[in-house]
Formats: sequence, structure tokens, C-alpha cells
Amino acid sequence: MTERNRSVSPAEMEKHRNCIREVYARNQMSGSHPRAYMLTLGCQQNEADSEKLCGMAEAMGYEITDKPELASLIMVNTCAIREHAEKRALSLVGQYKHLKAKNPDLIIVVCGCMVVQEHRIEEIKHRYPYVDILFGTSSLHRFPELLLEKMSRGKRILRSDETVYEVAEGIPIRRENEIRAWVSVMYGCNNFCSYCIVPYVRGRERSRKKEAVIEEVRELVGKGYKDITLLGQNVNSYGKDSDFSYDFADLLEELDTIEGDYWIHFMTSHPKDASRKLIDVMARSRHVARHFHLPMQSGSDRILKAMNRRYDFEKYIGILDYIREKMPDAVITSDIIVGFPGETDEDFEGTVSALKRARFDMIYSFIYSPRKGTPAAEMEEQVPADVQKVRFERLLAVQNEISLSANRPMEGKTLRVLCDGVSKNNEALFSGRTEGGKIVFFEAEPVDTGKFLNIEIERGEAFALYGKVKR
Ligand code: SAH
Ligand code: SF4
Ligand code: F3S
Repeated sequence: MTERNRSVSPAEMEKHRNCIREVYARNQMSGSHPRAYMLTLGCQQNEADSEKLCGMAEAMGYEITDKPELASLIMVNTCAIREHAEKRALSLVGQYKHLKAKNPDLIIVVCGCMVVQEHRIEEIKHRYPYVDILFGTSSLHRFPELLLEKMSRGKRILRSDETVYEVAEGIPIRRENEIRAWVSVMYGCNNFCSYCIVPYVRGRERSRKKEAVIEEVRELVGKGYKDITLLGQNVNSYGKDSDFSYDFADLLEELDTIEGDYWIHFMTSHPKDASRKLIDVMARSRHVARHFHLPMQSGSDRILKAMNRRYDFEKYIGILDYIREKMPDAVITSDIIVGFPGETDEDFEGTVSALKRARFDMIYSFIYSPRKGTPAAEMEEQVPADVQKVRFERLLAVQNEISLSANRPMEGKTLRVLCDGVSKNNEALFSGRTEGGKIVFFEAEPVDTGKFLNIEIERGEAFALYGKVKR
């Protein structure tokens, strides 16, 4: 095993548990009823981390609340992927200033990807003096230790990140949902796409041991979870830091043998190493959902090269064709960046025609946001904001039409849908998702929540399907 995928030592984990016990004891002694509030920005990986932060907080005696004004511990788990995410994090942290003024004993924690960056640590240090504890993504398991230190010594703890990235097992988890669960299979990223901050804020790739992943999934299925999403920045790299003879496709195949009625999703898969073996395993599996999220980023080979993505459009579309050959009903979604430095009208048209050829069911599209310290931020020919905006709107319009033409033919079909409960947007309806992740609205009963239902689709729109339950 290499240095990179080192596990956190048993002694360190023992210290972690001791700190949890000690904070718990202090909270008990204080006679108060401590509550913790968690705010999460960013991707599923951050949501999974927040479930661990809440798990630790609960084990330390805090009740999790959704009201920050009731909390004696506020945790903000930040994201750095685009400027907007960082601005939001800072403005939210700013809003807690008055809570601290009212309650000087309130402890404010800022963690996650944004605060791995030196300039953000400095900024929080000077401009947000009421932030008590700051730590980065590799110190997650040290949260109890840092909280204890703050409680005992009172001083601010602004900790820059560890340089050694490790895998910690056995952190308590408080899951947000009783039907769908996240399971990280690996952490970090080695790809260094030229626009992306993730490798700088999440460290190098390190995989969890397959036994730990399998055990966790088995336990979740046993508890009745119906949809389990395996997480990693590039799941295709699973195992490459330790055992080359066992890859992500092998892991999926082994997980698929777990008995039960459930789906396994995974994200994200990098096109440069999405293998035929992986697609074959999916096609013959019982539980792996026929959904592929395969970020294309751009349809122009020149831009893909400048992005350091290490595939061209021909290779990309070859993977899509193979997925559809093996699984004609697979749902395929993607990420697209608009306005990358040097993107010409011609490059952008390349992306538009790539969308028309790829016919994604849905895309997540982003306007390029320069990230300090990444190569793309230093590139000349940054695309002006107004040009980016025009291209972005056009991209959305093109994709809407494609999504609509992918969803219309669903009308009249009966699809298996996992019911999430009453819709947040329209309380008269329930919502759920298909195997491919499409949102479906329908009338149902409270007892249907958490169940697989057969829904006859009556209407297919660009962003959702509408139908009725077939009993
Ligand atoms: N590991 C995943 C992506 C994680 S980030 C992958 O490689 O597919 C999610 C998406 O955010 C990326 O796919 C990309 O489309 C977008 N993104 C990343 N950095 C960005 C930036 N600097 N500006 C705009 N979008 C960005
Ligand atoms: Fe970022 Fe590229 Fe890694 Fe995805 S693969 S996290 S886009 S560097
Ligand atoms: Fe995720 Fe944002 Fe970090 S997208 S990995 S939380 S930078």
C-alpha cells in the first residue's frame, strides 16, 4: 500500500472517540440543551461530509436543529467550485455575526473546500473575527478534537489543512434521508482539469477499502435504504492507489450480489477512463441503475485539450454509443462549461452540435468561473461576461428542446419510480425519481413514501414527468 491511501491510525481514531466522549460529558455537565445547526454548500461529497459532521455533533450531545438562532454550535460546510459558491458561503457566515453578538457562547465553525485555500483562511481570520474554528477537508475526523480544544482553551482555531490525506473509517454518521444514502468510495482527485479547484482542496485520490464499502452498503440495504449513491470525483479511479487487480467495475459487480430491492447509483465517472468493462457490468447487473452521469464539459477538441480533459469528442461519443448499444433505455446526463478561456464562437458551436449528437436527457451547465491557483485562471483570452451569458442562454434553449424530446416519448409508458414523499414545490402532489434520476410528479398516499411505485406517465416535460400510480 502506498503512502497516499494510508488509513487514519487506530490511535488517532481512539483519540477521536475520546474527544467525542469528553465534549459529550461537558455538554451534559453544563445542564443546557445544546443544539447544532449545519449549513451545507456544494456537491454530494460535501453533503456526505456534513452527515458525518452532524453524526459527530450528535455523538457529542448536540441535538441537530434547522434553526440557527437556537443553536450553540453553527457549522458551515463550504464549496469553492465557482466564485458564486464562495460568495454565498461568506455572506451566510456574515449573517451569523448578530447571533454571536446575542450569544457570546455560540461556537461558529467554517469548514470544507473553500477554507483549504490560504487566501480564504486569511480573509476569515481578519474579516470574520467571530468565526471560532476553521478546518479543511482532510481534518474532518479531527472536528471533535478541535471543538474540545476551543472549549477548553477558548482561543480561535484556524487550522490550515493537513498535507497527508488519509482515509478515516468509523466516524458516526447522521443520515439526512431514510430512503436514499451517500456512500463515498474514494476521496480526492488527481486529474487537474485546468479550470478546477477540487484537486487543490480535496487532495490526492485515495480509495476506501472494498470491505468497508461493501459492509456499509450491506448495512444500508438491511436497514431498508432503496437508493445508494457511490461517490467519488472520478469513481473510475477506484482502487488505483492500492490494488490494481480490483477496480470500480469489480466493486459494482460485488455490490450487486447483495440481496434486496434497491438501486445503486454512482457519480462521477470521467470519460477518459469510463471502460467497456464498467458498462458491461452495469448492463448485466440487477441493482446498478441504468444512469450514466458523464461530464463532457465541451464539444470542441481544442477546448477539451486546453481543459486537460484527456479525451476528444470522438472518444466521448464512442462511449455514449456503447452505453446505448448495451442499454438502449439508459439515461445519460452531463456537465457543460460555457465560456472557458479562448472559447471562440466556433468552439461554442462545436458544443451545440455535440449536444445535438449526444442527446443527453439533462445537463448541468455552468458559466466558467476563474479559480485562483488553477492554470485556466492565468490563461489569456478570458471570455467577456456578456458573451458567456449569451452562449449560456443559447445552450439552455438547445438542451431544453432535447430534454423535451427525450421526455415526450415517455408518455404512455409505465416507469418504476422511487417515491420521495410530498413534493416541496407543490403540496398537492408527491414526487419521486426514476431509475435514471428523472423527477416524476403524481398523486399518492403518505404510506407510499419510500416505496417503489409503477407510474403511468401522462405528460413529459423538459424538466419533469407527470403521471398516475398504477395499483
Ligand atoms: N469530478 C467531477 C466534477 C466535479 S465538479 C467530474 O470530473 O466530472 C462539477 C462540475 O462543476 C464539473 O463537471 C464542471 O462542469 C463544473 N466546474 C468545475 N470547475 C468549474 C469552474 N471553474 N467554472 C465553472 N464550472 C466548473
Ligand atoms: Fe475537477 Fe477534473 Fe477532478 Fe472532476 S476530474 S474534480 S473536473 S479536476
Ligand atoms: Fe464539492 Fe465544491 Fe468541494 S463541488 S468537492 S464541495 S469545491
